[in-house]
Amino acid sequence: MEIIVKENELQAGKAAFAIFEKAIKDGAKVLGLATGSTPLTLYQNWVESDLDCSDLTSINLDEYVGLKPEDPQSYHYFMQKHLFDQKPFKKTYVPDGLASDIPAFCQEYDQLIKDNPIDVQLLGIGRNGHIAFNEPGTPFDIGTHEVKLTENTINANSRFFDNIEDVPKSAICMGTANIMASKKIVLMAFGEQKAHAIKMMVEGPITEEVPASILQKHPDVTVIVDEAAASEL
Ligand code: GLP
Repeated sequence: MEIIVKENELQAGKAAFAIFEKAIKDGAKVLGLATGSTPLTLYQNWVESDLDCSDLTSINLDEYVGLKPEDPQSYHYFMQKHLFDQKPFKKTYVPDGLASDIPAFCQEYDQLIKDNPIDVQLLGIGRNGHIAFNEPGTPFDIGTHEVKLTENTINANSRFFDNIEDVPKSAICMGTANIMASKKIVLMAFGEQKAHAIKMMVEGPITEEVPASILQKHPDVTVIVDEAAASEL
């Protein structure tokens, strides 16, 4: 794992964008994208750039179950607002939170990823070491699946909702196996609340109790953190 420590989120966003830009110039066509507050500075650099995205495909990590794409809390909405509206891609995929047959949808999403292998996968990390919504205890060999969110994640994500009761209780998300199959991974994390998760991911044992720890086994991972998130390393 390569660890890059930047002074602040803005510098980190620039560094992350430089990696994506280079990969795209070198031929990357399929990007695995992520939501949350962490990638915002990356997307800001992206929309301000002159990078042409019309030949790119994106596949997002996850979506809340039960939210319509036009719901401002949905990850569909987030991606439109922060990236796709300003930088149209050839094709964008975000899991369908309204799928009527979720297991069948998850199989289709796995097939989509097989048919469009991900060149660069962007990740954030949860305070408990989750990646996408793969919570502690999720098997490492799992594909796209429906996940019941932990209290910890519901609490952390409630800051985006008016009431904690409005936070969906489950999500559809790519599994750890899908993430590990991508050729290159860029993980970003900021702030003191992420410091322990970063330490466990980088230095801890590889265990399903810390989903991000599996990244130690991936051959090409770049971790971009600010000083606070790096403070326990
Ligand atoms: C959610 C998302 C993750 C994200 C994490 C951290 O659980 N499903 O993909 O990495 O939150 O979010 P933030 O970047 O807002 O701290």
